[in-house]
Amino acid sequence: MRIHLLWPIAQIRSKMSLAGSHLRWRLCRVRSSLHVLLLPDAPRRYLLRCAVTAVLHRDGFALRSSTPPPDICLLLQLAEGRKDVVELGTAAGWLAGALVVADPTRVVRTFDPFEHGREKYLALMPAEARERLHVVGRPGAATDHLPLDMLFIDGSHTKSDVVDEFEAWRPYLREGGVVAFHDYAEPNWPGVAEAVVELGLAGQQRRGMFLWINERDPAKGGLESRS
Ligand SMILES: C[S@@+](CC[C@H](N)C(=O)[O-])C[C@H]1O[C@@H](n2cnc3c(N)ncnc32)[C@H](O)[C@@H]1O
Repeated sequence: MRIHLLWPIAQIRSKMSLAGSHLRWRLCRVRSSLHVLLLPDAPRRYLLRCAVTAVLHRDGFALRSSTPPPDICLLLQLAEGRKDVVELGTAAGWLAGALVVADPTRVVRTFDPFEHGREKYLALMPAEARERLHVVGRPGAATDHLPLDMLFIDGSHTKSDVVDEFEAWRPYLREGGVVAFHDYAEPNWPGVAEAVVELGLAGQQRRGMFLWINERDPAKGGLESRS
């Protein structure tokens, strides 16, 4: 009888707590989106145009899958002075576009085996920037064998893919190049952290990403992972 009375109360409390976490999650998303205003001028304008286009086209995929503005901020900082950038997992092309418009000398190659209706977003950048962006319809591990200064891993997020992608691109990463593993601290994507452990990398975590710098250790005469 007592259980009978308590059960609806427990139900209401759990519903309220669910509604509370949903509201907190929404507020977090809004706060994170406002971060776009802190970005440098060219990427900010490009991303705002992308967001308006996505809303007009009701493109929920683009709005959900694109890297959040605070992470874009960090990636743009990491990309400073790095001319050849590779992204694995293009999605709607928002981050790739932001990277290419941010620096008139940068070339971005972005890999994704799936087409996500991204042309409408890529068309929003100046023609000159579009020429420096190469969209490749292949999986992330299918490297183009060209050198790079920065690798952003944001594709399938499975442990085996992340390991294969890192190993495929590592020989082409220039000295001082950086690899950013997105969603490293995201419990929904445990494969990313598992891959970092399997690869035995020492690096640092920032904004939930794992960052690894390719520094040459003269003592060992090769490419070494260090924090
Ligand atoms: C989270 S989204 C990427 C978001 C994008 N980096 C951005 O910031 O706008 C993940 C993308 O990875 C792509 N993907 C899935 N498997 C892949 C693979 N093996 N190689 C490369 N991309 C893959 C999906 O099609 C999807 O577009």
